[in-house]
Amino acid sequence: MCGIIGCAGDDGDMVPTLLNGLAKLEYRGYDSTGLAVSGSDIRVVKREGDLDELVGTVDSEFDRGGAAGIGHTRWSTHGKPSDENAHPHTDCAGRVAVVHNGIIENYQLLRDELQSLGHEFESETDTEVVPHLIGHYLDTGLARKDAFRRAVEKLDGSYALAAIFDDHDEVMATKKDSSLVLGVGDGTYVASDVTALVGHTDTVVHLHDGEFAFLTEDGYTIVDESGTPQSKTGTEIEWDAESVTKGSHDHYMRKEIHEQSNALRECLRDRFSTGDSVSLDAIEDGYRPESVHLVACGTSYHAALYGAKLLRKRGLQAQAHLASEYALSPPPVRDGALVVGVTQSGETADTLSALRTATAEGARTLALTNVVDSTAARECDDALYIRSGPEISVAATKTFASQLVTLVLFALQSSGGSSDEAERLVSALTELPEHVQRLLETTAAPTTARRFADSSGYFFIGRGVQYPVALEGALKMKEITYEHAEGFAAGELKHGPLALVTEDTPVFVSVVGDDETARKTVANAKEVKARGAPLVAVTDGVSSIDRFADEVLTIPRTNRTLAPILVNVQYQLLAYHTADHLGRDIDKPRNLAKSVTVE
Ligand code: F6R
Repeated sequence: MCGIIGCAGDDGDMVPTLLNGLAKLEYRGYDSTGLAVSGSDIRVVKREGDLDELVGTVDSEFDRGGAAGIGHTRWSTHGKPSDENAHPHTDCAGRVAVVHNGIIENYQLLRDELQSLGHEFESETDTEVVPHLIGHYLDTGLARKDAFRRAVEKLDGSYALAAIFDDHDEVMATKKDSSLVLGVGDGTYVASDVTALVGHTDTVVHLHDGEFAFLTEDGYTIVDESGTPQSKTGTEIEWDAESVTKGSHDHYMRKEIHEQSNALRECLRDRFSTGDSVSLDAIEDGYRPESVHLVACGTSYHAALYGAKLLRKRGLQAQAHLASEYALSPPPVRDGALVVGVTQSGETADTLSALRTATAEGARTLALTNVVDSTAARECDDALYIRSGPEISVAATKTFASQLVTLVLFALQSSGGSSDEAERLVSALTELPEHVQRLLETTAAPTTARRFADSSGYFFIGRGVQYPVALEGALKMKEITYEHAEGFAAGELKHGPLALVTEDTPVFVSVVGDDETARKTVANAKEVKARGAPLVAVTDGVSSIDRFADEVLTIPRTNRTLAPILVNVQYQLLAYHTADHLGRDIDKPRNLAKSVTVE
């Protein structure tokens, strides 16, 4: 969703600091951008389009300095992408400028009231009511801080807000149900997430709902709703400045695909106790949930589907739920139920909402997330970190692999007891990073992608633990190529989707080993082939599939439970190279944003 940044101080480098922060936040939304800097008056510049549009304008219109500044990168909710709807927004007199992430649900009512008082609006956004409300309270004689707080009291909905005033060197910020972090370095900063502050500060403080932060060049103060000062301990940022650059790669997505073996090493580090048993800090040894509900969206939902299959295989009751549907018909929460929010960002509104429903029903909750101290991590009873490092590309890649491995660890620990199967799985886990590395070095995916890049659609099929990665392979393909792609359980194809298959729709099938599941999948692949569709097999070479597939992408042999992680790396590369061939904006696919903070 939208990304916001604010800065006070920073040694005359305000504009470069804001632009630099926006570049790091662009993955949250990129249909328009803007910034405002305060001096004797407030200077605002905003443009439809991505950050390059803003940079070009700023260079000719702005000097570098300013006492306080705010910036915004937008993912539209109310009002189309345009210069007018871009943030920051100001009041009629230009005394205050505001950036916002979230949705003001009662904006129409507030707008009507303000218009009847003579306020004139310039945009279609919900956000614009905020500076006008602040302006209204300034008109009644309130001081700036009181006007800001009084305006915020009138808002319903979700928001992370930052505001600056003319002739004033302070940034004011507050939040409800949207994240904001604070940090101090050469200046004092507030941002939607840690990524924007990497390189500026080593430690961040998370603002809580209802708190207000006031930033000056000397630092910040935080007060709660009643105005009582709050003192908070910071969280160390573990990510270095290099980790939020593209390095030598053309795209963040490519870099992040190639970081997967290291990410998995990090995910596994120190997570085995004596011998082969798993020990996760987040969960006490011996804990056995009676049932597990996994709630998640998008790619994380595919990870949740995989996790649920694994937990069931290990003898636990488990089910994956789309987070946006969970609250509408929540399954009964019986004693001993655990609800796991699978969310790499820890900020996805639908997932947070499902977790809150579960808490209200009395369930224990666990956040399985990449971001330390994210909202999910803080609100759940426990947090289990996937340790992927920052992921900037909108399409999730390395976080998905780390989610799957963390779910394997979680399934091993929470199902307890040692068994031959558990031992084999642990041993295969330790080899997995090496297998991923080998696959990345030897993959034929670029050639396959080019061969099929002009197809009219793509289908992905798999059975059992391969089914979630068929869904994920299709999601990645459609997300960054804009071509039609669908994933199916291999056995379902003949119940309808087979009608879509033609010689212009390659079908990707994953087949691992040569057991009954593999043999049934091979039979489904033959049904596809008989109808003239090109067949691409992703396989470890054990079954007969490579004898009749048109193309074969090989994965190293591993434990069958872990094979989907390797299959998925091939699917990521296929999607990446197809999108590259088609000239798509790979890191910032149209209409999407990484951290979806509205329901
Ligand atoms: C797709 C993708 C999304 C996210 C989904 C949930 O590549 O990244 O489908 O998986 O928006 O996000 P998190 O995991 O942050 O809750």
